[in-house]
Amino acid sequence: MTVPAPATTAIPALELSDVSCTFVSRDAPGQRYTAVAGVSLALKPGEFVSVVGPTGCGKSTLLNVGAGLLQPSTGSVRVFGEVLNGINNRAGYMFQTESLMPWRTALGNVMAGLEFRGRPDARAQAEDWLRRVGLGGFGDRYPHQLSGGMRKRTSLAQTLALDPDIILMDEPFSALDIQTRQLMENEVLELWAAKKKAVLFITHDLDEAIAMSDRVIVLSAGPASHPIGEFTIDLERPRDVAEVRVTPRFIELHNAIWSVLRDEVLKGYAQQLKVA
Ligand SMILES: Nc1ncnc2c1ncn2[C@@H]1O[C@H](COP(=O)(O)OP(=O)(O)OP(=O)(O)O)[C@@H](O)[C@H]1O
Ligand SMILES: [Mg+2]
Repeated sequence: MTVPAPATTAIPALELSDVSCTFVSRDAPGQRYTAVAGVSLALKPGEFVSVVGPTGCGKSTLLNVGAGLLQPSTGSVRVFGEVLNGINNRAGYMFQTESLMPWRTALGNVMAGLEFRGRPDARAQAEDWLRRVGLGGFGDRYPHQLSGGMRKRTSLAQTLALDPDIILMDEPFSALDIQTRQLMENEVLELWAAKKKAVLFITHDLDEAIAMSDRVIVLSAGPASHPIGEFTIDLERPRDVAEVRVTPRFIELHNAIWSVLRDEVLKGYAQQLKVA
């Protein structure tokens, strides 16, 4: 008789518990805005999780909390079980905005973090990562000499070269045309499948979230944004992001998630008009 294996309770790679973030207005110091409130989410090692939600709801805020760049007003963050104080050194962050150093070449940008960590193999590692993202011949170009897609590839190499256990990505491909975007999404999935790091991926785009992820979390519109839905994406891997979109299961998942997200998008839009 075989004895069933004990249930493993893997420690989450990243865990936000009851996190709230309240900002004080710089123009009117008495005014406060609670962007997110009561957010609990856990990312398992090797899991690819996307967070979707209307613009301005607090997605980047949550990622900043996970990166240790922003201290939450209440709640706590744990990284592989340890309470996070300061910068999350186990995480690599691919920012929403362009973050390459314009005075450094593509190679220099990818090398920077490795040099900072005192790695003697910084150049060789950076060259290898540039090759892996298809930029082997472009190491000597400066950011302004690269296309938008190439700059994003450089940022990707910069993030992955540090071999982080947790990868935080904030709408990394939203500025790209659809073809480049789908190519890069597939590349990210391939790189992820090879190393199986925990990924927290922020996007506006529900199709992208479903195509890439193991799990999709829907945030409500702000203020006090919080998760209002969580969906397991049981589509087979490996996936081609363009092909998977036309499968019946994808469409079913899309309909289910959109039914939760739609009202929040409308509320978020109304909220922004009110502020404007
Ligand atoms: N440092 C800050 N000071 C004051 N308010 C802030 C600060 N950072 C974020 N906010 C506010 O918190 C809310 C959430 O911002 P955040 O950037 O997290 O949204 P988002 O979901 O990432 O939006 P988008 O989809 O447009 O990128 C917004 O209303 C924003 O104005
Ligand atoms: Mg954002």
